Amino acid sequence: SDRYCVFGHPIGHSKSPQIHTAFAAQSADTMTYTAIEAPKDDFAGAWREFVAAGGRGANVTVPFKEDAFRLCEELSPRARRAGAVNTLVLGKDGRTFGDTTDGIGLVRDLQYHGVILAGARVLVLGAGGAVRGVIEPLLAEGPAEVMIANRTAEKAAGLATDFAALNDGQTRLHGGGFDAVTGPFDVVVNGTSASLGGDLPPLPDDLFAPGATAYDMMYGAKPTVFLVWASERGARPVDGLGMLVEQAAESFYQWRQRRPDTAPVREMLRQALT
Ligand code: ATR
Repeated sequence: SDRYCVFGHPIGHSKSPQIHTAFAAQSADTMTYTAIEAPKDDFAGAWREFVAAGGRGANVTVPFKEDAFRLCEELSPRARRAGAVNTLVLGKDGRTFGDTTDGIGLVRDLQYHGVILAGARVLVLGAGGAVRGVIEPLLAEGPAEVMIANRTAEKAAGLATDFAALNDGQTRLHGGGFDAVTGPFDVVVNGTSASLGGDLPPLPDDLFAPGATAYDMMYGAKPTVFLVWASERGARPVDGLGMLVEQAAESFYQWRQRRPDTAPVREMLRQALT
């Protein structure tokens, strides 16, 4: 049967094997999907070895997304612009194609939760790799504004500049420090790793428009500090579990040309969170 895997280091806690195995079972697809801890200094070697053993595709997570980007012989335009690859596909000709599905995962999850991005005012917190991957798919939905705010203001401004050429002129795309943030916003996406340490970016209390959604790319059994803070200020909190499932679904589609049903897989993962 066709083999797939997720590469990371460490990789022990990855939920990807569970997710893709559940997707495959929906159509009695006999593909297999495992987790592989690649050596930090030889990602390309790990991919070659996997292909030699019958591997057809892979997901790539921390810290290999840039290594994966570099080894691809062909890239999707969005992966090229993101400078990172989370999905490898082995072509019929043996060439390796790379894509990034994280951003489309975020957009699909927001849509799943009924968020309308067209015309919306969107604030994205953070300017690291995670945020770089979501700007293009967000812009494609035609929001009125995308502000990128970051602790290091110049990184946010730089990101806005990097994506300015993709902006069709409908969106006010700009970046700056947290002190430059003036609401209200309809959607606020936390893409910083601040919540890992229980930190909260310094943000104004009147950040949220009525009916706003606060989205954290992180998730866990308990709401993140950002989501607790946002709920207290009237926003609807949504965590990143659905983004994880939707990015996986997009990768799965590229490999198997079938769109899995994400709802039961969301439910399964939510139940398992402790
Ligand atoms: P990732 O790939 O997850 O995006 P990253 O590239 O290291 O990781 O980026 C981490 C992001 O979280 C950055 O935007 C970082 O801000 P800086 O660019 O100023 O470093 C942000 N971040 C990390 N810890 C933070 C904290 N305690 N408060 C605010 N922002 C934080």
